[in-house]
Amino acid sequence: MAIGRRVPILTVIVFVLLGIATGIVALVTSAKSDPGEVLYVKHCQSCHLEEGQGLGKLIPPLAGSDWLENHQDQLACIIRYGQYDSIIVNGQGYYEKMPGNEDLSDGQILNIINYINTSWGNDIPEQQLIEVNEALDACSDWEYVQQ
Ligand code: HEC
Repeated sequence: MAIGRRVPILTVIVFVLLGIATGIVALVTSAKSDPGEVLYVKHCQSCHLEEGQGLGKLIPPLAGSDWLENHQDQLACIIRYGQYDSIIVNGQGYYEKMPGNEDLSDGQILNIINYINTSWGNDIPEQQLIEVNEALDACSDWEYVQQ
C-alpha cells in the first residue's frame, strides 16, 4: 500500500518539475526569439543603444522619435542605404553619418522595422513585406552614403 501511494506522488512531483523546467526554457527562448530584436542588436544597437535612446547630439533616438513616426515610407531605404543628411528629431538637429546595411534582405529589414516600431513604448503600426519591397524599389539608386 505504501509503495502504491508513493509512486503516483513521485510521478506528480516529476511532472511538476518537468513543467517548471519547460516553462523556464520557453521563457528564456521567447525572450531571444524575435528576429527583429536579434538583428537590431547586431546592426543598430552599437549606435542607437539598447533602449533606442540614442547618444546625445550625435545619434538620434528611436524611442519616441517623431522622425521615425513621420517617415515610415523612408525607413527601409535608410536601413539599407544609410543616411547622411541633416535631420531634426524631437526638435534636435543631427548631422552625422549612418552606414547602410546592403547585406540585409527585405524580410530582415521588415523584422527590424517592426521591432523598432513596437519597442521602448513606440506604438507605430507594423509594416507589411509588400510595403518594404515597394519602398526599396523606389530608392534602389541611393548610393551617396557608400561613396
Ligand atoms: C554607426 C552608427 C549607426 C548605426 C550602426 C545605425 N545608425 Fe541609425 N542613425 C545614425 C545617425 C548618426 C543618424 C542620423 C543621420 C543623419 O543625420 O542623417 C541615424 C538616423 C536613424 C534614423 C532616423 C532618425 C530617428 O532617430 O528616428 C533611424 C530610424 C535609424 N537611424 C535607424 C537605424 C536602424 C534601424 C539601424 C540598424 C539597422 C541603425 N539606425 C544603425 C547612426 C547609426
